[in-house]
Amino acid sequence: MTSQLWDADPDPPPDIPVARPRLPMADDILPYLREIDANRWYSNNGPLNQRFQEILKAHVSANHVVCLANATLGLALALMAQKPARGSLCMTPSWTFAASAHAAVVAGLVPWLVDVDLSTQQLLPEAAAELIRQAPGKVGAVMPVMPFGCPMGPGNWDRFKNDTGLAVVIDAAAAFDTLRASRVPAVVSLHATKTLGIGEGCFVASNDGSLIEEIGKAANFGFANSREATSPALNGKLSEYGSAVGLAALEAWPHTRAAYKRVATGYRRALGSISELSLPEGFGEKWISSTVTIGLPPGLMDREIKALSKAGIGVRRWWGGGLHRHVAFEHLPRMPLPVTDMLVATQLGLPCSTDLADETIFRICGIVAEAAAKTKS
Ligand SMILES: Cc1ncc(COP(=O)(O)O)c(C=O)c1O
Repeated sequence: MTSQLWDADPDPPPDIPVARPRLPMADDILPYLREIDANRWYSNNGPLNQRFQEILKAHVSANHVVCLANATLGLALALMAQKPARGSLCMTPSWTFAASAHAAVVAGLVPWLVDVDLSTQQLLPEAAAELIRQAPGKVGAVMPVMPFGCPMGPGNWDRFKNDTGLAVVIDAAAAFDTLRASRVPAVVSLHATKTLGIGEGCFVASNDGSLIEEIGKAANFGFANSREATSPALNGKLSEYGSAVGLAALEAWPHTRAAYKRVATGYRRALGSISELSLPEGFGEKWISSTVTIGLPPGLMDREIKALSKAGIGVRRWWGGGLHRHVAFEHLPRMPLPVTDMLVATQLGLPCSTDLADETIFRICGIVAEAAAKTKS
């Protein structure tokens, strides 16, 4: 296993950071802020929130969408709304960000860490159906993840949910560009680091209206049509200010997407001819993300990190050692995780931002290629 799995912040910081988000500028948000001033409506399903949700619905082809405070909370509430038995297992791929497991715990479940399919880096419904038979306890829920926004077959999990009756929530945190809604709720993060960033926020999309209503209620004190609390709940609403940034970000989306596509295409062109290195299928062609993660041959990770860091280039193993190596999760039940361990040792995040210059991408790829070639010789 490689060293420095958790990427402590480098000191001094790299000249080219691994991520440099750019959210809407003050002038672009200002017209929406003036609307808030005029409306004197600051949260609680205000007019900007409603407009934001309408556009998001169209974007992911969903019948229903609710915006919330962040995706970690959104995942937890989307699980809780389906009422899995408390203390039951939530099948969760170990190849994901810490938030997925935290959300399952908040929902009263025990994450059960399982492996992913090598080519998609995802937990697939067929594998999940098989795994249930080997579960170390009662399974109440499943949380598939769309890694780094990688597409997932639309409706893939609807049949699984129908057949098993389990709670299912798709962690689509980075999938603003690729998600197509189904009945199973999917949670998209609007964190600053995501392609549609608003600072903190998320939306949950589903074609199941009563489920979205239940999630909205759980994020609003359990209130439905009155101020009576009718179910356990908390406050997880997105304010009008968050929605204002969201509306401005949506206006800029065509430009933002084009900029991420330029970066992804630049990496694909510069790395495409090096047979040992890989990029996720369709990345930069069919879909974009706010991260660029390359696959290295086994044994190259430390050398690449050293070469890139020496040149002042930021790198990140976005998901560190996998969920099973976090102190908070190492006690959890788990299946053998050979594919996750392989991804941990081979997947490296390179700099990605909308204003990353083509020459810089070329320079980064040159260093990556040189380190790879040295290993071969
Ligand atoms: C896979 C995954 N799930 C959940 C989250 C949590 O999102 P948020 O920061 O909106 O809570 C992230 C954030 O990066 C993520 O990558």
